[in-house]
Amino acid sequence: MLDYGKFVAKRAKDIEISTIRYFFSMVKEVEGAISLCIGEPDFVTPSHINQAAVQSLDDGRTFYTANAGHFRLRQEISNYLNRRYQLEYKPESEIIVTVGASQAIDVVIRTLIEPGDEVLIPQPSFVAYGPCTILAGGTPVYVPTYLEDNFVLKADILEKYISPRSKLLILPYPNNPTGAVMTENELKEIASVVKKYDLLVVADEIYSELTYGIEHTAFAGIEGMWERTVTINGFSKSYAMTGWRLGYVAAPEGLAQEILKVHQYNVACAATISQYAGIEAMKNGDEDIAAMRARYDERRKYLLTSLREMGLNCFEPRGAFYAFPSIKETGLSSEEFAKRILWEGKVAVVPGSAFGETGEGFVRLSYATSMENLEEAVRRMKGFMKTL
Ligand SMILES: Cc1ncc(COP(=O)(O)O)c(C=O)c1O
Repeated sequence: MLDYGKFVAKRAKDIEISTIRYFFSMVKEVEGAISLCIGEPDFVTPSHINQAAVQSLDDGRTFYTANAGHFRLRQEISNYLNRRYQLEYKPESEIIVTVGASQAIDVVIRTLIEPGDEVLIPQPSFVAYGPCTILAGGTPVYVPTYLEDNFVLKADILEKYISPRSKLLILPYPNNPTGAVMTENELKEIASVVKKYDLLVVADEIYSELTYGIEHTAFAGIEGMWERTVTINGFSKSYAMTGWRLGYVAAPEGLAQEILKVHQYNVACAATISQYAGIEAMKNGDEDIAAMRARYDERRKYLLTSLREMGLNCFEPRGAFYAFPSIKETGLSSEEFAKRILWEGKVAVVPGSAFGETGEGFVRLSYATSMENLEEAVRRMKGFMKTL
């Protein structure tokens, strides 16, 4: 056997497979377990979107598109961002269609970050920002958010983590895993810190369509922030299109054109068939979003009430499709809790520690699953909680 270790780059060795993946594989081993681990819609992509993709194949649209994406899709994205969030981006030079928000996160960070640069990442949060920063040679600096603050990023806490090497702030709201949403006023406070320390912001707004009883505020729309913000969004969550791998970046031309170079050498372009689906989604998908949002909202309310009935301290998530209750009172670590509830209660949840240190003491439950599943999971969880 070759010693592959000596061939593998240090930066790859420095990152780990997400522990969420580890839990996914464990769930498969427990027969009959109900999974509340899933970070994707349980709905199938709306059929008119699927049909548009099929039609594109029948029409022979099987070629590369422009690196930045099919121009019609970029126009639709530009219209959408304007219609929904009053943002203005030029389709010809300020929008790049990507392979999901995942690839957008990677290329944006690699375009901006050099060795020594620090990236400020609120925690708990989605697992990709830290590893992408490390792969770019930068240093992730995790900024804690707390239950007492409803998991929003606080300006005074952020300031404590800023150093002369800080370059970029990731702003992942609505948040995975906490479900936290930031209001316009809260974002304004962050904006003044961003300005004061001359930072750039990557706003990962992939859950922007999934807010409940509160309107999403786009960070780029806060006064003075458009020029400092790279907005990332995509189709996975809002249109139930995870498997299509379609997302986008919107940024001022001076940044977008640099990001485009990295994107070009990375993937050339997003899959053409997915881009045709994306055009249809943006043009005619508003009603689908509203219908799915209403279903998530019912489940959200049910799950929140149930968790509280179990005696778990859970703040009300106003975005995405996750609840993030504290399990501290059980005396178990979040990993022990997740393992035990899986083996003993046959319900799979993700330990909060998978999302960073401040996630310890919490678990993430996804309500992107049928009401039937959710009811059975709650019944089992209640039973399990009684055994503790
Ligand atoms: C906050 C956040 N950003 C980005 C992504 C990646 O989404 P995509 O499917 O568009 O790559 C996810 C997926 O779970 C997410 O939760």
